[in-house]
Amino acid sequence: MILGILGVGHLAATMLAGLLKSGLDPASILLSPRGKGQELSTRHAIPLAADNRSLVEQADVVLLAVRPADASTAVAGLPWREGQVLISACAGVALECLPVAPARALRAMPLTAAEINASPTVCFPAIAEANMVLERLGPVIPLASEADFEVATVNAAVYGWAQDLIRRTAEWSAQKGADAQAMRRLVALTFVAAGRLIDEKPDPMDALLADLVTPGGITELGLDVLAAGGQPALWQAACEAVHARLIRDSGTA
Ligand SMILES: NC(=O)c1ccc[n+]([C@@H]2O[C@H](COP(=O)([O-])OP(=O)(O)OC[C@H]3O[C@@H](n4cnc5c(N)ncnc54)[C@H](OP(=O)(O)O)[C@@H]3O)[C@@H](O)[C@H]2O)c1
Repeated sequence: MILGILGVGHLAATMLAGLLKSGLDPASILLSPRGKGQELSTRHAIPLAADNRSLVEQADVVLLAVRPADASTAVAGLPWREGQVLISACAGVALECLPVAPARALRAMPLTAAEINASPTVCFPAIAEANMVLERLGPVIPLASEADFEVATVNAAVYGWAQDLIRRTAEWSAQKGADAQAMRRLVALTFVAAGRLIDEKPDPMDALLADLVTPGGITELGLDVLAAGGQPALWQAACEAVHARLIRDSGTA
């Protein structure tokens, strides 16, 4: 199977790093020439397509990772064929905006943790050939509809907000005199621990949280300060704003 990557920018570079780490043979990948294509082709001995037409002619699965505004024009007029699969990672670009028939298309939303094979990646619809690529980068979570996918895409922004909370907590700790490296590690792994516990224990999430919130304790104290400042309504408003933007852009309302 040849995997073509059309649009070799920031996201594609992280996915490529994860694919290579997973043991994917560089000879089975083909890069489009713009962006980081030339540089990554030279660095990892990955074939470089002469142009997008040649890439689509040779690839069995094509990963589309151009900016959303470029997505439709990037795939239009190329020699798509039966049996081929397009994975679009473009946020807010509806399937109907990707003219790749008779190839099949799906949407996927990898996170940059693909680079360390730790990206939970949602997709719609599930297509086996695409799954074989995406599961190299972390757990794949198939969704039931494109509307669900738009909701789930908000999580790609939440990933950044989580990183911001980690950074701010680690920096605050360092400003208080704690060891910066130790705090960076502690806070980052605390977010990993919080996520893993919720993912791996089937208990209701409010029950898991209730276990943590001792009346009069420090978790409760912090939650009260956050509530006085507008949480969780503020966080929900941020989710709503991102979702509204995504459904406006994709027309999947
Ligand atoms: N960054 C993330 O964390 C992330 C996460 C999930 C999904 N995404 C999605 O991934 C997509 C790419 O994001 P990004 O951050 O990687 O953007 P980016 O760094 O700007 O990369 C986009 C690349 O596409 C190239 N390109 C544009 N039109 C092309 C065409 N017709 N043929 C070949 N290459 C073309 C650009 O080349 P030039 O530089 O020559 O214009 C650029 O190298 C977006 O749709 C975004 O929604 C990103």
